Formats: sequence, structure tokens, C-alpha cells
Amino acid sequence: MKSVLQYEGKRVIVTGAASGMGAATAEILVELGAEVHAIDIKKPEVTGLASFSQVDLRDPNQIEDAVAKIGKIVNGLFNCAGLPNTFPELDVMLVNFCGLRAVTEAVVPSMVEGSAIACIASSAGIGWMQNIGVLFELLATPDFAGAKAWCEAHPKELQNAYGFSKEAINAYTAQRSFTLAAHGIRINCVNPGPTDTPMMPEFEKAVGKKYMDDFPVPLGRHAVAEEQAWPMVFLNSPRASFVTGLQLDADGGFKGGMFTGQIDPAVLMPEGFE
Ligand SMILES: NC(=O)c1ccc[n+]([C@@H]2O[C@H](COP(=O)([O-])OP(=O)(O)OC[C@H]3O[C@@H](n4cnc5c(N)ncnc54)[C@H](O)[C@@H]3O)[C@@H](O)[C@H]2O)c1
Repeated sequence: MKSVLQYEGKRVIVTGAASGMGAATAEILVELGAEVHAIDIKKPEVTGLASFSQVDLRDPNQIEDAVAKIGKIVNGLFNCAGLPNTFPELDVMLVNFCGLRAVTEAVVPSMVEGSAIACIASSAGIGWMQNIGVLFELLATPDFAGAKAWCEAHPKELQNAYGFSKEAINAYTAQRSFTLAAHGIRINCVNPGPTDTPMMPEFEKAVGKKYMDDFPVPLGRHAVAEEQAWPMVFLNSPRASFVTGLQLDADGGFKGGMFTGQIDPAVLMPEGFE
């Protein structure tokens, strides 16, 4: 059963591998025998990486160069990098959505049938279907430059850039799964609830520590990074070979409680946060 997830010898890319969920994902994949290529703005401390490319995801040229350097073939892509809502709105959109999509589209031509992509969105993005009209406009932009120009022209949508960027990942996952399916390539995303990583103090800065401590999680605690990494490792493994276009809510029961009226929306976040 050691090989149950079949990562031995597989070539995978992990963005955001320097910290939190991305670092946990990279560590698990090394342990499972994958050839792990890391992309991040900071140098990861994970041991056993096959390569590290220093990339600022706000720069499409750096993305293209790094993906070209990693080369063919790529069996799995883990889009884990992200910025919290304490950063400027445009930067949040560029890293969380425009950069994520640019990495994905750059990697797809290096993928073969059976390859898979897992993206980290957020429970901040679970309402994406209510915003589908405007999200489709963003998704219709052809490339990074087009998406950046769209963001610059839509300050209202960027008022809650973090939540909007995560809705965009949910929508992109659903939409792109259809066209990638024709090539036997899968794409899914996870929507984490509050998770104790180096990003948590940033959320606390934005809305207060008490707010994050009291955030409604039916399981009664925050997640740790590994609890978000494992669902992604599963999704990109052949054990999830019929799963594509999925938004997996790794949120300790938050969405279940919300969507059935058992969590009062009034206790939810203030304007401008997730
Ligand atoms: N921690 C939470 O509670 C939580 C909840 C829901 C979703 N998320 C999402 O999970 C993902 C992972 O976050 P985390 O909690 O592990 O945070 P983290 O801050 O520990 O990790 C984020 C990583 O992204 C990298 N990164 C940031 N800007 C970059 C850039 N311009 N170019 C390249 N890399 C860049 C950072 O260097 C870091 O390694 C993010 O997308 C985040 O939005 C986090």
C-alpha cells in the first residue's frame, strides 16, 4: 500500500513551496517519491527538491521562464502560492488569480493524459456562482496582461480582492475542467477554512485575532497545513481519476453549516475580508 497514491518518479510542480500549505505539500510529495520542482518568491527550506525557481507570480515573463526551465513532462501541478488581504488589491489579484492561471496555462502543454492540477482557493470563494457573470468576463481575458488590465479597470470588484480572487479560482477550475477533460487532464481546487500557517497572523491583522479564533468551524478548531496538503495530493493522484472540476471544501464543516442555515451569516466576516 506504500504506492497507493502512485507518485514515485512523477514530475510535479508546487508553487508557494516556501511556506505553509505549499511547503507541507512539497514535503509530502518528496516523501512519496515524486520529483518535486518548487516555484516561489522565497527560497523553500524543504529538503529533497529537484529544483527551485525564484519567481514573482506578478511577472508573467518570470513564470514562462521558470516553466520552460522545468520542461517536459509534468504529471502534477499544485498551485499553492497566495497573498492575504493585507496586501494591495491588485497584487492580491495578480498573485492569487492572474499568476495562478498563467502558471497553469504555461504548464498544460507539458502535461500528458492522466496529469492533474490542484489549486488552493478558499472558503472565501464559495459564493462564486452568485458572481458568475462578472467572473466570466475576467475568465474571458486571454492572458496575464489581459487579466491585469481587466482588474485595473474594475476597482469595484477589487474592493474585496482576496475573496474575488478566490471566487475566480473556483470559477476557473469549473470552466477549464471541461476543455482539459478532452485531453485527459484534470483540474480541481480546494477551499480551505482557517488554517494555522504564516498567513494566519495576516488575517488576524485584517480582522482581529478574536475574530479568527471565533470564526465558525463546526469541527471546533483551525486546520494545520498538512490537512490542506493531503486533499490536494489525493486530488492529483490517479486515485481521483474521475474527479475533475471539483471544489473540495476543506473547511471543517463551515460550508455545510452555512448552506443549511445552521451558521448565522450575521456572525461572518466584516466587509472587505474573505
Ligand atoms: N491560512 C489560511 O487560513 C488560508 C485559508 C484559505 C485559503 N488560504 C490560501 O492557501 C494558500 C496557501 O497559503 P498559506 O496559508 O500556506 O500561506 P503562506 O503565507 O504560508 O504561504 C504562501 C506562499 O505563497 C508565496 N508567495 C506569495 N507571494 C508570491 C509571489 N508574488 N510570487 C511567488 N510566490 C508568492 C509565499 O512566499 C509563500 O511561500 C494561499 O493561496 C492562501 O490564500 C489560506
